[in-house]
Amino acid sequence: MRAITVIPGERDSARLEEIEEPSPEAGAVLVQAVAIGVCGTDGEIIRGEYGWSPPGRARLVLGHESLGRVIEAPDGAAVSAGDLVVGIVRRPDPEPCVCCAAGEWDQCRNGRYTERGIKEIDGYGSERWRVEPEFAVRVDPQLGRLGVLLEPASIVAKAWDQIDRISRRACTRIETALVTGAGAIGLLAALLARQRGLDVHVLDIVAAGPKPEAVAALGAAYHHGDVREIGDVDVVVEATGVGSVIFDVIGQTNPGGIVCLTGMSPAGRRIEIDAGALNRELVLENDVVFGSVNANRRHYRLAADALARADRDWLERLVTRWVSLDQWRSALERRDDDIKVAIAFDAG
Ligand code: BGC
Repeated sequence: MRAITVIPGERDSARLEEIEEPSPEAGAVLVQAVAIGVCGTDGEIIRGEYGWSPPGRARLVLGHESLGRVIEAPDGAAVSAGDLVVGIVRRPDPEPCVCCAAGEWDQCRNGRYTERGIKEIDGYGSERWRVEPEFAVRVDPQLGRLGVLLEPASIVAKAWDQIDRISRRACTRIETALVTGAGAIGLLAALLARQRGLDVHVLDIVAAGPKPEAVAALGAAYHHGDVREIGDVDVVVEATGVGSVIFDVIGQTNPGGIVCLTGMSPAGRRIEIDAGALNRELVLENDVVFGSVNANRRHYRLAADALARADRDWLERLVTRWVSLDQWRSALERRDDDIKVAIAFDAG
């Protein structure tokens, strides 16, 4: 079968190649791939900046945003033949730490977790893949191929779950939210914010095209340019990973503000900041700045509910390019108007 593989740490090593069928040891559920989504993390892996191969091997099967149809599943599993499913990305560390032992592997304490398509376990970017029944999540058949958005939606479901918990410390409710970055993560974060009834602002650098259109269709306000012109908000979900944006938004919250950082940036980017003013603002306003990564099974369920409640036409806007497996290389190129690019395994 064909698979997209890469040598982590080696720039431009990605290729489409023939590999063995998945071994039953990888899980009792056998799945026919329907699509994989491509995200910034895949870009980093392809550029050799991130990612780890499985022990004793050079190449890693890429792909952590999955969607497939079950070919076979054991009796008693929560999924059965014919179901549309998504595979969970992270696996608990072998120890396991107290969080992984509690099923909260997204909060792993020792960093020895593994991740499909990212860290030491093959991803879902092969024509067939296997998954352990407890790491397969059933997708509402109504969603169809848009089920490929479940993994990125799980990331923002986790972020909002954390924001909701933090916000309970204050005596006021959250009313306004700013999302920086109108990629798939940013737009899905904005969707969940609108579903909470918030007044939502989204900032990105582009002035026109599918991003502002998707924001407007959500009933949110779109901004490009200087983030400081937007004014103070109660919550920020930062999804650009750009240092200057991060420090600007930290200074732009109302008292009791919450800034959730979800973007990743390479180490070594230096900017000058006024540490005194920053500290003063955080202390005097009881602000919280925190990072959020990954998702556990509960977040996948929250994400599935959020996607089920979303307007399907709006979700369609998020996948700006569907590329066949034969054209996989073009899916890995970044284009200005791209929101989410997905590789369709069943069309090529
Ligand atoms: C994935 C997460 C993962 C993170 C760090 C993200 O792109 O969606 O599941 O934990 O990268 O490896």
